[in-house]
Amino acid sequence: MAATIFTAIALGIWALYLDRDSPIKGSLLFVHKSLGLTVLILVIARVAYSLIVGKPPYRQPLHRFNQVGSTTAHLLLYGLMILMPVTGYVFTGAGGHPLPFYGLFEWPSIVPKDKALSQLAGAFHYWGAWAICSVLIVHILAVVWHSLAKRDEILGRMLPTMSNPSPRYPPAETVELKS
Ligand code: HEM
Ligand code: HEM
Repeated sequence: MAATIFTAIALGIWALYLDRDSPIKGSLLFVHKSLGLTVLILVIARVAYSLIVGKPPYRQPLHRFNQVGSTTAHLLLYGLMILMPVTGYVFTGAGGHPLPFYGLFEWPSIVPKDKALSQLAGAFHYWGAWAICSVLIVHILAVVWHSLAKRDEILGRMLPTMSNPSPRYPPAETVELKS
């Protein structure tokens, strides 16, 4: 999801700086919209999964300050992962523009064609882009701090290649050698 979102952000910013009649703008937005709508599907699945299955507990309970900070940042990220595709969808649909999905099919627009609604959603999309980029900078700096300064389990919680740090899956028992 992170790779999809980073690519959507890069393509969105690139498209923003191109003239309306630039030949590649349409192609960039075609991919941008498809990626953005993919994020919407994945975030719904992700929220449903974590509500049903839950999240692994921390091996070491977080300090109060870290707990409040990370919960706030994660809630903001979830909110923005929903707000960005929804505002993009309304912005595009209400503007009467196509909603492609990788050339496979077109999403129907469930919003009426309405210039004011499209402009409002466009403004939320623009400021939401600033917000998600700002929270992501803090998020990544926090991960760097946990990995390099605190050297704790946090990065491992997101990497499938690292041993699962959850106490639900304790490491294999070690055998004590007697001399
Ligand atoms: C995770 C989802 C998304 C992210 C992070 C994202 C991010 C961005 C960013 C950073 C921009 C440039 C700033 C701006 O003009 O607002 C942008 C523009 C835009 N986005 Fe998205 N977007 C997402 C989803 C969508 C979706 C689902 C659609 C439509 C189906 C969409 C349609 C557009 C359009 C039409 C523009 C305007 C480009 C221009 O005016 O040149 N976006 N987006
Ligand atoms: C678009 C990019 C990203 C988004 C939207 C995002 C969003 C999130 C969210 C919502 C969580 C909370 C997960 C949960 O507990 O339900 C999270 C956790 C985490 N993210 Fe990201 N993230 C992004 C990129 C990254 C990157 C690039 C890294 C690594 C450098 C990273 C490392 C982590 C780590 C280590 C956690 C676990 C924190 C913990 O368990 O307390 N994230 N991320």
